[in-house]
Amino acid sequence: QQIQAFQTTLLTWYDQEKRDLPWRRDHDPYHVWVSEIMLQQTQVQTVMPYYNRFMAQFPTVADLATAPEAKLMKAWEGLGYYSRARNLQRAARQIVDEYGGEWPQTAAGLQKLAGIGPYTAGAIASIAFNEPVPAVDGNAFRVFARLLKIDDDIAKPQTRQVFEQVISRVISQERPGDFNQAIMDLGSSYMTAKNPDSEHSPVKAFNQAYLDGVELDYPVKTKK
Ligand code: ADE
Repeated sequence: QQIQAFQTTLLTWYDQEKRDLPWRRDHDPYHVWVSEIMLQQTQVQTVMPYYNRFMAQFPTVADLATAPEAKLMKAWEGLGYYSRARNLQRAARQIVDEYGGEWPQTAAGLQKLAGIGPYTAGAIASIAFNEPVPAVDGNAFRVFARLLKIDDDIAKPQTRQVFEQVISRVISQERPGDFNQAIMDLGSSYMTAKNPDSEHSPVKAFNQAYLDGVELDYPVKTKK
């Protein structure tokens, strides 16, 4: 039915067109985590060299846990939002000291780590551990708001739950990590905020806002 057809279309496109990004070479939770934290406030193109240098300098979560503060701050220089780097090291120490080096494998467990909120927890749980949970960032808000003409105001904190419930119904149970990353890729290619190219999008047929000619009205976002 609809959901199945959407998943197949999306994942087939992803298999053919996914971006070759350094953190997609494996599903190591450390790799997924560091990349997702860097990508929170920084563009993919900027993140790539930082990510590669970071992994060369701190190859494992244990290396990060014991890294000298100055070396860590130097590695972060230019990315900004230094609290992200401090939380990375805090969480690395939690994993080593409190979890004996074993990652929590669910989104709920991951949210107990410093700096890991619902989005990052969902991304790591789905990509590294195959848990079928949503990863709702700005891309997911925009893509699903348009596909399904969801009118809820994304500036309101309660709206996250609405999207999480919708995505939980349509996410692939077999390939949740690829599903979430395919949504991110759609959001940065055919379904961008200002210049979408839905005419050529692989999921054009499922894009209700586009089909009704009201794509740019979504997502609904009031000024704060
Ligand atoms: N933006 C946030 N997370 C991402 C990921 N895993 N791949 C590409 N873009 C992203």
